[in-house]
Amino acid sequence: MLPLSLPLLALLVSFAQCQEYDYDYQPHSMSMPSGPNCNQECTCPVTFPTAMYCDNRKLRFVPVVPKGIKYLYLQNNMIEEIKAGVFDNVTDELRWLILDNNQITNPKIEKGTIDKLTALEKLFFSFNNLTEPVIPPSKSLDELKIMNNKLSKFPAGLLNDKVNLTFIYLQHNELTSDAIGGAFKGLKGLLSLDVSYNKLKKLPTGLPNSLEILYADHNDIESIGSGYLNKLPNLRYLRISHNKMVDSGIPAGAFNVTSLTELDLSFNKLQSIPEINEQLEQLYLQANEINKFDLSSFCKYTSPLNYSRLKHLRLDANNITHGSMPPETSNCLRVASDVMFE
Ligand SMILES: *[C@@H]1O[C@H](CO)[C@@H](O)[C@H](O)[C@H]1NC(C)=O
Ligand SMILES: *[C@@H]1O[C@H](CO)[C@@H](O)[C@H](O)[C@H]1NC(C)=O
Ligand SMILES: *[C@@H]1O[C@H](CO)[C@@H](O)[C@H](O)[C@H]1NC(C)=O
Ligand SMILES: *[C@@H]1O[C@H](CO)[C@@H](O)[C@H](O)[C@H]1NC(C)=O
Ligand SMILES: *[C@@H]1O[C@H](CO)[C@@H](O)[C@H](O)[C@H]1NC(C)=O
Ligand SMILES: *[C@@H]1O[C@H](CO)[C@@H](O)[C@H](O)[C@H]1NC(C)=O
Repeated sequence: MLPLSLPLLALLVSFAQCQEYDYDYQPHSMSMPSGPNCNQECTCPVTFPTAMYCDNRKLRFVPVVPKGIKYLYLQNNMIEEIKAGVFDNVTDELRWLILDNNQITNPKIEKGTIDKLTALEKLFFSFNNLTEPVIPPSKSLDELKIMNNKLSKFPAGLLNDKVNLTFIYLQHNELTSDAIGGAFKGLKGLLSLDVSYNKLKKLPTGLPNSLEILYADHNDIESIGSGYLNKLPNLRYLRISHNKMVDSGIPAGAFNVTSLTELDLSFNKLQSIPEINEQLEQLYLQANEINKFDLSSFCKYTSPLNYSRLKHLRLDANNITHGSMPPETSNCLRVASDVMFE
């Protein structure tokens, strides 16, 4: 077998080289000298030989990736399909796979492709036609971006063993609360989750307590569970703007947790200011239906040490004015440099 395959390989190589000479098509960045270990459709800079740039080339397929490539750029093509075998020589080497802005659908991702990548750290799959996520077996995955697809499913347990997964971006999809019910369990290192522009009716459940940033703007959320935030002791930034939050959907004390520094509830249907904790620094409530200013929402108790740390408060596009604030407001909102009413 071996003696036969060697000449065959030599023949293939010389054929490939010959083809390259005859080939009219010039790779995108010819100015960059390409290393020897590169697919001829792409460019691998001599100064960065582990990277293969195949972006902006009108490609319809993912090209075969040679051994040694760790960073693969395939964004802005017309790729619809990933054929089995293209990653076979980099299954334990490929760290970054950038596929943004193509036309990939789930049925056209063959077995023996992404499901073989055991070292992947970043998977960028935004602006494609996926209906469910494609997750590599790599335990080193740290960043997952699948924005602007058609995701309507996110099976529970898919991310179970991703101990280093830190950032997840899923905005502009069709995810419902049920669809993501068990999706994020077990992610011990998750810091940031963005599920804005989906079809959620409530905030995601089963989130790991490491989470610091949760963005859920532009959904159909009407309420927050009492104690929801108590299960997220590290959450600092929470955005629920452009939803359908109403007063009755906010149980007493739901936002009264010490970890939050920023809370965005703008563009909802609130008629009163929810109770917040003294430690909150930014509160966005513009474009609601708020018609009274209740100081006890900010301070239940005022003393030299007990006052609200709020710096920015937006109340514009509501039904209240500066005149709605009682005189003792300045004792409570002592550091609020910026309170906007209009
Ligand atoms: C993978 O590497 C082997 C040996 O290094 C080579 O013979 C084979 O052609 C490569 N396969 C692909 C798909 O690049
Ligand atoms: C991907 O989605 C776009 C926009 O919805 C559509 O125009 C295009 O035909 C789809 N491509 C494939 C391969 O499904
Ligand atoms: C997770 O990240 C840490 C720190 O970067 C690294 O030492 C560890 O090997 C990673 N774990 C996996 C499974 O990749
Ligand atoms: C927030 O909770 C603390 C106890 O954790 C309580 O003392 C305080 O009055 C509450 N603040 C508001 C505005 O309800
Ligand atoms: C007043 O502030 C101190 C120090 O921040 C805090 O320990 C205490 O719980 C506060 N008391 C009330 C009634 O909020
Ligand atoms: C706005 O506030 C005024 C004065 O408090 C009240 O008379 C009016 O009904 C409110 N309008 C709305 C739409 O809530």
